[in-house]
Amino acid sequence: MEKQISELVSRYYPQQNIADIKVVKNRIIVEIREISENTENTALLKAELQKLFPQYKSSVVFVQEKQVNIGVQAIEKWQVRGVKKIIGVASGKGGVGKSTTAVNLALALADKGQNAALVDADIYGPSIPTMLGYEGSPLISEDGENFTPFREYGIQSVSIGSLIDRNTPLIWRGAKAGGAIEQLITQTAWDNVDIMVIDMPPGTGDILITLSQRIDFAGIVIVSTPQDIALIDAIKGVNMFKKTGTPILGIVENMSYFICPHCGKQSDIFGSHGAEQTAQKMGETFLGAIPLEMAIREASDNGTPIVAAQPDSPYTDAYENIAEKIIAKI
Ligand SMILES: Nc1ncnc2c1ncn2[C@@H]1O[C@H](COP(=O)(O)OP(=O)(O)OP(=O)(O)O)[C@@H](O)[C@H]1O
Ligand SMILES: [Mg+2]
Repeated sequence: MEKQISELVSRYYPQQNIADIKVVKNRIIVEIREISENTENTALLKAELQKLFPQYKSSVVFVQEKQVNIGVQAIEKWQVRGVKKIIGVASGKGGVGKSTTAVNLALALADKGQNAALVDADIYGPSIPTMLGYEGSPLISEDGENFTPFREYGIQSVSIGSLIDRNTPLIWRGAKAGGAIEQLITQTAWDNVDIMVIDMPPGTGDILITLSQRIDFAGIVIVSTPQDIALIDAIKGVNMFKKTGTPILGIVENMSYFICPHCGKQSDIFGSHGAEQTAQKMGETFLGAIPLEMAIREASDNGTPIVAAQPDSPYTDAYENIAEKIIAKI
């Protein structure tokens, strides 16, 4: 039935103007994205629907562009030279381990033979330089046109923290951030990067929407803890990206469980399998679980992420499994 309706609608309205078609109870609802309402077409379409599905009523609704999507078409993407694929690491809620996941994922991708890069685009809390152990601004190339990325643990990296001073008030950071992030991503001399990982700002704010419109993402990895409150925000995040037409690669559950170093018993401090179940319910891929583990935090704080510090540990295996799934997907 869906297919028949869709074929019929596309006889009256161009495909790109059809925002949504749904059947709710005994009513067929067709949403059209159009500047001027063409009532003649509407009447014809409704008559045809009536003929084909006499037991259904029908409505043709005209919707504003920005209600149905946050402008997927027409917005020009940034040109990122020297980079084949870009993935974003995002979370609805702050502090759930987005940066820890981004940095270890980039290292795990490198372990899997990818030429990997990491961009810290979190204007609210740039933390990649600390996690990778570098400081200061990226070097400017000889011709003065580009930044030269830092190279630590075999990956290329830059941070918004180098361009926006920590002491800049938050409100200013927001205003400056769009341009600064564009510069950072498009004016760095990336050397043959297979996969770039971007540590995105948390939430669903303006900068995040700009990034999802301007960057041609291969997909987004959503990080969440198993807690309900984090998951609610993760769902909002997934929906925001979907609205901008950005594909979701899947959900990672961080701080998933805790193994007591004394007795070896597992405790589910933030609940268990919440992200996995949420992924399932939303029809998204569950990419894997990372335990809550002191060594992971210590490694990040020391500037040597766990994947580099303990390459043979089960934690590194967990990140590498996620990396493999992502490589397969993109
Ligand atoms: N699996 C883990 N086990 C133990 N500690 C972790 C784990 N993941 C993250 N952490 C620690 O939790 C804190 C928050 O993690 P992180 O900075 O990666 O989160 P974030 O989502 O990027 O936060 P923000 O919103 O502040 O940018 C850090 O101290 C980090 O070392
Ligand atoms: Mg962070």
